[in-house]
Amino acid sequence: RAQKLDLVLQHIRNVPDFPSKGIMFKDICPILKEPKALAAVIDLFEEHVRQNHPHTELIAGLDARGFLFGPLLAQRLGIGFVLVRKKGKLPGPTVSVAYALEYATAEAEIQVDAVQPGQKVLIIDDLLATGGTLYAACELMMKQKAQVLGCMVVIELKDLHGAERLPVPVFSLLQN
Ligand code: PRP
Repeated sequence: RAQKLDLVLQHIRNVPDFPSKGIMFKDICPILKEPKALAAVIDLFEEHVRQNHPHTELIAGLDARGFLFGPLLAQRLGIGFVLVRKKGKLPGPTVSVAYALEYATAEAEIQVDAVQPGQKVLIIDDLLATGGTLYAACELMMKQKAQVLGCMVVIELKDLHGAERLPVPVFSLLQN
């Protein structure tokens, strides 16, 4: 496990001052370029789900980088994957919620038939910062009466205390 985590860590690139000055961007693109690193990510998520949430029925991934890991994990687990998209991208009927970004607001959206009432869902993304995006995804799932078991991210920015805002536990492969 430690070896896999190390491999993942080695394939996250820190990019200073992106997208704006003072922000250290965590670039996960190198993970996708290296099959062994990508496999390690999926192995580690799979192990977590099998041990802690063995009755998960659906993986919901966040636009856009949750889409890179979510379907691979769902395939491994033999369950479905659904998209939580930025508003206006999915054909209806849809349901949406607004969430706050640093200097603006955004809306996250799902198709109403993405999830059934009572269905056990795990939400996945690449990164947890303030938690606003994952919170919106939790809200959407709860609006549709799904049972959100938890959230999963590759990397969690601990200093921003995003996990404390969320209504469910967060599992992160790496913390920084
Ligand atoms: C980034 C990241 C998460 C979100 C985390 O996505 O991939 O989805 O921000 O931030 P938060 O915890 O403060 O909400 P971004 O909004 O940049 O969208 P993108 O994936 O389409 O680039």
